[in-house]
Amino acid sequence: MSATTPKPAPPKLDVPLLDLKTQYAALKGEILPVVERVLDSQYMINGPEVGEFECQAAGYCGAKFAVGCSSGTDALILALMALGLKPGDEVITTPFTFFATVGSIHRQGLKPVFVDIDPDTFNLDTEQLEAAVNEKTRAIMPVHLFGQMADMDTVLDVAEKHDLKVIEDAAQAIGSKQNDAPAGSLGDCGCFSFFPSKNLGGAGDGGLVTTQDEETYERLKMLRMHGGKNRYYHDEVGGNFRLDTLQAAYLSVKLKHLDTWHEGRRKNAAFYDESLKDVAQVKTPVIAEGNQTIYNQYTLRVEQRDELQTYLKEAGIGSAVYYPLCMHEQKCFAHLGQGPGDFPIAEQAAGEVLSVPIYPELSEEQLTHVVETIKRFYA
Ligand SMILES: Cc1ncc(COP(=O)(O)O)c(C=O)c1O
Repeated sequence: MSATTPKPAPPKLDVPLLDLKTQYAALKGEILPVVERVLDSQYMINGPEVGEFECQAAGYCGAKFAVGCSSGTDALILALMALGLKPGDEVITTPFTFFATVGSIHRQGLKPVFVDIDPDTFNLDTEQLEAAVNEKTRAIMPVHLFGQMADMDTVLDVAEKHDLKVIEDAAQAIGSKQNDAPAGSLGDCGCFSFFPSKNLGGAGDGGLVTTQDEETYERLKMLRMHGGKNRYYHDEVGGNFRLDTLQAAYLSVKLKHLDTWHEGRRKNAAFYDESLKDVAQVKTPVIAEGNQTIYNQYTLRVEQRDELQTYLKEAGIGSAVYYPLCMHEQKCFAHLGQGPGDFPIAEQAAGEVLSVPIYPELSEEQLTHVVETIKRFYA
């Protein structure tokens, strides 16, 4: 077919990028009594459900302590505050991430320093980490993108050698593992998001910080409540970063199902991997040895990305580009003096990635429709 001949319209079946209603319908009987109990108690802030959820989440993430908070973004801010980073300090991170990673660093008056990514995993290329360390470097913030952990052995080695803090941006990776160590159990802090599209999605915004260190835990709790241990007496300036009681109760119900949902996503991923392996224009996700991913996203690298996305839409299939513009190319970070060409691997990824539906409730018919539509596009 010539480039000018339009492709015939593809067969259609509704496959949204995410379908939260189906999951909620299955859980409604469990959730509504819990919501009613909290509402009846009217203990809306710092109710017992918050502490209960924190205990369960800490256990799940292999951490001694966990502090619920208002969002994944606020989890990152709280961690940066609790670990004592000061304006002007440098934090090494990836240019290929959701904005909040770098936005949080910037908002604390810190300087983000980028290192390019590994082309297979989309995570920090840890081989390049040490070259980015200088006398102002105080922390490394690896991001476990799409649900797969960054190479933590090297991150921790470099951090130990140069006395740096490690803050895991595990917003997309709750339950993900590397050599059996869960995301959020290895760094000084692990930061999680309960944005509704996450594998553990809340009824609105929510987040969590994990730590193995008791002193950090005490600081996180204090900073979450305006920096005061005792009401109206403030040792330092914190913020209102609390997790609502209702949110914690809702998340406790969902946490019990999380491993089953992860398993469903892995099964769907295995189906895509197998079905798309011979499509030359498509590269399926690469999972590094020792990693067990939770597939918060199933992200392909594809040729003619934008055209494929339009074609999928015509066929009723939702998809998304996470992320179309790297952090060093964002207008708000122009003052860092970097731009196109500085992190070529990340920039190439931004031009090629496409995430397709992966949630556990997808039917075989829907999965097959996605695969057949992709194949038809390249045929
Ligand atoms: C990698 C990453 N970091 C941080 C965040 C921020 O989380 P939230 O949206 O809960 O503030 C997200 C959320 O999408 C994320 O994907």
